Amino acid sequence: MKSMAFYNNKGGVGKTTSVINIAYQLAADKKILIVDLDGQANCSRFFVDEPKAGLEQALTKTMVSPAIALSPTRYPNIDIISATPALNDIVSIFYALPEETQRHNAEKIIKETEKPWHAVKYDYILVDLPPALNKITENIISICDYVFVPIELGTFAIQGIPTVTNIISDCGAKFGGCFVNKFDRENPSDIQLMEMLKSSLGTKALNSFIPFSRVVKNSVSYKLTAPEYMGWTFAAECIANLVKEIAEICE
Ligand SMILES: Nc1ncnc2c1ncn2[C@@H]1O[C@H](COP(=O)(O)OP(=O)(O)O)[C@@H](O)[C@H]1O
Ligand SMILES: [Mg+2]
Repeated sequence: MKSMAFYNNKGGVGKTTSVINIAYQLAADKKILIVDLDGQANCSRFFVDEPKAGLEQALTKTMVSPAIALSPTRYPNIDIISATPALNDIVSIFYALPEETQRHNAEKIIKETEKPWHAVKYDYILVDLPPALNKITENIISICDYVFVPIELGTFAIQGIPTVTNIISDCGAKFGGCFVNKFDRENPSDIQLMEMLKSSLGTKALNSFIPFSRVVKNSVSYKLTAPEYMGWTFAAECIANLVKEIAEICE
């Protein structure tokens, strides 16, 4: 089992959309568990009609298993530990816990499903995080095997990258790499910014990207992933390439 967190301290860059599409693509031949840690619960609402509460209990109470928030989804190979807005209310409660308890409770969310008695053996755990750095996010990213950072190109975004990579290394987390979402290949400025990204991050800038695409944006409103909605498009091809690259990094 490999766990990967999708993190960026900026909102709207495509963490949730990427988790949805990457999970779907990986689920072609792997078992996937998604953990939604964002109180906005967008990812959960995409996958299930009524996201189960309880993750907030698992994070704050040592004896509560994250399994209380676990549901199957309409995809046979994808299960989800869902988020609800209750997650927004426990940040300060989590913060007040002793550090070992914070660590234990966060570890439980990611590692519980590896226990021998657990019914399903997942190949990948994908974690969708809120665009905030708090003790929950910090603990989770330090526990995951890899942290991937979706970014949207723009001068400010490029300037913000050291902040994100510093956060990742300060937590002792393993940086899987950065990938560009909403790439506009007809925009010379995007092409130039992509070059800048590659020269500043080296191999930590993934070769694959997701283009700015109506297919990606609109599919979610139909409760479909981009590959399901229009599998023949450039966007779907890019998602498949990105997933291949991510799977190779996680090998
Ligand atoms: N590749 C893309 N092309 C076009 N729109 C996108 C793309 N990726 C995400 N979006 C849109 O951008 C918005 C923010 O995406 P979201 O995944 O919710 O970001 P985050 O989880 O980082 O806050 C959503 O409206 C989503 O539909
Ligand atoms: Mg999100």
